[in-house]
Amino acid sequence: MGVLTSEKMAKVVSLCKRRGFIFPSSEVYGGLNSCYDYGPLGTELKNNVKQTWMNSMVRENDNIEPLDSSILMHPKIWEASGHVANFVDPLIDCKTCKSRFRADQLETSVCGQKPSKTPKTCGGDFTEARSFNLMFKTFMGPVEDSSAVVYLRPETAQGIYVNFLNVMTTSRNKIPFGIAQIGKAFRNEITPGNFTFRTREFEQMEMQYFVKPGADVVAFESWKEKRMKWHIGLGINPQKLQFHEHGPNELAHYAKAAFDIQYEFPFGWQEIEGVHNRSDFDLKQHEKFSGKKLSVFDEETKQSYVPFIVETSVGCDRAVLTIIVDAYDEENAAGGDEDLGPRAVLRFSPKIAPIKAAIFPLMKKEGLPERARKIYDDLKMQFRIYYDESGSIGKRYRRADEAGVPFAITLDTEPGVTVRERDSMLQERVSEDALKARLNDLLLLRK
Ligand code: GAP
Repeated sequence: MGVLTSEKMAKVVSLCKRRGFIFPSSEVYGGLNSCYDYGPLGTELKNNVKQTWMNSMVRENDNIEPLDSSILMHPKIWEASGHVANFVDPLIDCKTCKSRFRADQLETSVCGQKPSKTPKTCGGDFTEARSFNLMFKTFMGPVEDSSAVVYLRPETAQGIYVNFLNVMTTSRNKIPFGIAQIGKAFRNEITPGNFTFRTREFEQMEMQYFVKPGADVVAFESWKEKRMKWHIGLGINPQKLQFHEHGPNELAHYAKAAFDIQYEFPFGWQEIEGVHNRSDFDLKQHEKFSGKKLSVFDEETKQSYVPFIVETSVGCDRAVLTIIVDAYDEENAAGGDEDLGPRAVLRFSPKIAPIKAAIFPLMKKEGLPERARKIYDDLKMQFRIYYDESGSIGKRYRRADEAGVPFAITLDTEPGVTVRERDSMLQERVSEDALKARLNDLLLLRK
């Protein structure tokens, strides 16, 4: 793991492990640097984020289609895309402590031998900077020679570009239309770190919108705004979101214009999504390298043209990390459970909360577990919920708060149940017959 610059980040990492959101990968073998596994709650949360994203693309827009292209693709794709030549970082080695650094990030890196110093101030002996390609290479088939080299895709976008005509013709779309894809991407990052923020294996949610040349500027502005609204709609604090426009020195080789959506993490403002105007760069490159036409015919002008592309690209793992960091809160206990210490709570929007409700019988007697089980069985196919009868009710609430469960349903010997809202901790009494409808309302009401 990289440098954790704050106590909050350390608490988030610890909660993620403790409650089964995110575990270090291969932990029993001592872990594998920068690789993570999603536990039960993390998997549910990630799936909810992916579903929300896909819905925001293909359900809200009649002209956006889904795709699931392969990770291994023809190696020429990466020559055409510019990744073989340009997807490089400047790397330097320290001969003193044997650490590796990105030459352009020396001020913010930590010396491997003297963690209080940066590689510039530690007095180490450095090699010259050299270019390091971030793509993972492997071999297709049994022979490991240069003719068998294939790459693990470093972005999902190229799978969309090379399928653009397949999707357009089979879905009977016309320009403008979009293709949305969620999938794994791999980058051999020199300095992964800050938990799941920068890893070597991650998931992207990318949408490529194909427009007529000239219509790209308006589409770019529109997608920029829509994508910011999506993050806010997940419950992220808008004060902690901002746009960052790429200056001429920051623009990727394919981009005509680019804005990042940034979030203010405990380790600073960082990119969570990129919105790019990629012009006709990608399709023209694929025409050139494949020898196949990737143009469309314009019925109005009776001429063919290569569409421009507006791309929205968000890391799923980064979106999940943003949601967890933004939702994490601690407050002094009140209302009789002060002896349990401060309350840690994940204030997830119910829309994406991994578990929507918990069911607690107050006691393990007087028929309460049976009544509670009946309610659980009645709700479980509609909502992701769990049943818990062990420990004091205060501790059960605490466990639910840490898992970000928006509602806790408690049964006592009186008829009906209480529904406790996670953030306010206020309780309301609901009859058992009305519970399902009330829960539906509450989940919809609280964004
Ligand atoms: N197709 C365009 C593209 O890949 P990018 O800015 O390199 O653009 C897009 O990546 C998004 O993918 C980033 O905003 C980030 O959320 C995510 N991402 C990129 N590298 C990542 C990494 N090493 N670990 C986790 N997420 C990453």
